[in-house]
Amino acid sequence: MQNLGALSGLDRELAKIATRIKNFKSWTSSIGAICESSQFLARRMRNAISDPSLPILELGAGFGSVTALLPESTVSVEREKTRYEHLTKIFPERTILDTCALPALAHLSTPTVVVSSIPSVNNSEFEFLRDGIAQAYKAGMIAELVTYTYFPHDPLAGIFAKSELAGLEMLNVPPAFVWKYS
Ligand SMILES: C[S@@+](CC[C@H](N)C(=O)[O-])C[C@H]1O[C@@H](n2cnc3c(N)ncnc32)[C@H](O)[C@@H]1O
Repeated sequence: MQNLGALSGLDRELAKIATRIKNFKSWTSSIGAICESSQFLARRMRNAISDPSLPILELGAGFGSVTALLPESTVSVEREKTRYEHLTKIFPERTILDTCALPALAHLSTPTVVVSSIPSVNNSEFEFLRDGIAQAYKAGMIAELVTYTYFPHDPLAGIFAKSELAGLEMLNVPPAFVWKYS
């Protein structure tokens, strides 16, 4: 494998994918998906935020692809121990919480932008997350929410006044639909 630092953005993504495929079994059990989010999906998520000066809560930060592009003041939540430890190592100045997304949503005390990478499909707990999001929105604590899916289905249909399919990112494995709610 080449030195990743010497590669262009797209080459770097392809090199990462090649490594993941080589280590497919251990990787999928570790990340909960085929791959971490690409820098292209991460950028699309970040660009979907209307007002990045509002407080931001990131749910399911994983290995930090999206975290890296969010403002320093973002509070990121990752409950899996290895990923949480990785995040605290690579973002020593950030607020990273090793908690579940639900209490983090329940404790919001000001209108916040929520950026979620928590899967909505093949996730038996998603209905609880959906309820937690609905309650926080009803309480006026979610100004905007951005998330992605691997299928063209609206994962939070019926909760927000406004839902929008904000884009399709082909440079991700698999390609991802970005959703935006307010
Ligand atoms: C698809 S991965 C994250 C992808 C991330 N954007 C990346 O590039 O690494 C989803 C993450 O959500 C985390 N997660 C799932 N349910 C969660 C919950 N209820 N609370 C906190 N984290 C959760 C998982 O541990 C996993 O790391």
